[in-house]
Amino acid sequence: MKHDIIAEPGILEVSNLHVAFGRPKDRVSVVNGVDFSLAKGEVLGILGESGSGKSVMLRSLMGLFPRRTHVTGHVRLAGQDLLAMDKKTLRNIRGRDVSMIFQEPMTSFDPVFTVGRQITETIRRHDGVSEQDAQARALELFELVAIPSAKSRLTNYPHEMSGGMRQRVMIALALACRPKVLLADEPTTALDVTVQIQILLLLRELQREMGMSVVFVTHDIGVAAEVADRIGVMYAGRFAELAPTRAAILTPRHPYTRGLLAATIHGQQRGDHIETIPGAPPNLAHLPTGCAFAPRCGRSVAACTEKMPEMTVFGKTHMARCYNPEPSQI
Ligand SMILES: Nc1ncnc2c1ncn2[C@@H]1O[C@H](COP(=O)(O)OP(=O)(O)OP(=O)(O)O)[C@@H](O)[C@H]1O
Ligand SMILES: [Mg+2]
Repeated sequence: MKHDIIAEPGILEVSNLHVAFGRPKDRVSVVNGVDFSLAKGEVLGILGESGSGKSVMLRSLMGLFPRRTHVTGHVRLAGQDLLAMDKKTLRNIRGRDVSMIFQEPMTSFDPVFTVGRQITETIRRHDGVSEQDAQARALELFELVAIPSAKSRLTNYPHEMSGGMRQRVMIALALACRPKVLLADEPTTALDVTVQIQILLLLRELQREMGMSVVFVTHDIGVAAEVADRIGVMYAGRFAELAPTRAAILTPRHPYTRGLLAATIHGQQRGDHIETIPGAPPNLAHLPTGCAFAPRCGRSVAACTEKMPEMTVFGKTHMARCYNPEPSQI
């Protein structure tokens, strides 16, 4: 059986999403047909090498695009298509129904206002509550994300905080209006390991309490295994594999996923030879006709260079785009 979208309706439904930059003659195709459905309360972890389109895809789910972006497809949040909305409706939805923790820690802040003010403004803009109520909520949020001396921290400017604290404020800001969907782009990469784990566990706890759905980008398979219900592996702007976390890690079907896992597992043994995937990621300005991974793939067969494989379903919810998948037992 072959199809591209999981059948059950989710809080977020993405279908046939394509994103390209530049003018038609020098167009770079970054997202090349992404389909998935995110269930209520689900945490989807996105993995993939640098440049595979993870951040661009995630920003697309908020309808955030720079100028000269060519976008097609659908991003439906609770049934409403974000890509078909006028700017005002979209602005109202951002922060309230869907919010994002950005990869670059400073992107979310305005350097000239205190962090407390930025949170209260967000709350007031979306919920229309009084200044006093907004301040009380901001304090609650700071306590929720475990910021010590929360009350006095509200009066800090972004540059007065450490990286770890700023990250927590960013999470507080993203959670300010209790979004239905939280998008998190490597929210902890810049931090040291102990702080990373603290923040991720906190995020998972908050997600459970609030029943939010989360799409979460990470470079770290260990982190994805810990936090995600399902894992999507991106290659050249598409999902190469999309599977429940356990299946993705124990029995990956796509050779690229297998390669990523091998690199991680071997990389953890100190002094060991680190297995890497041979070759380089494809040039997004000239994607091959067939599978974009074929030139680097040890399992490539003739069909792979002729036509892009469709998403194939193995078992109920395990999907991979591959003509010659890895065996189900490894
Ligand atoms: N505004 C833009 N104009 C042109 N190209 C862009 C633009 N934004 C991103 N790209 C290109 O799109 C590709 C994917 O970028 P993206 O930031 O999504 O990668 P990523 O998977 O998040 O990588 P990383 O793991 O390093 O964060 C890159 O080649 C990048 O240079
Ligand atoms: Mg990125």
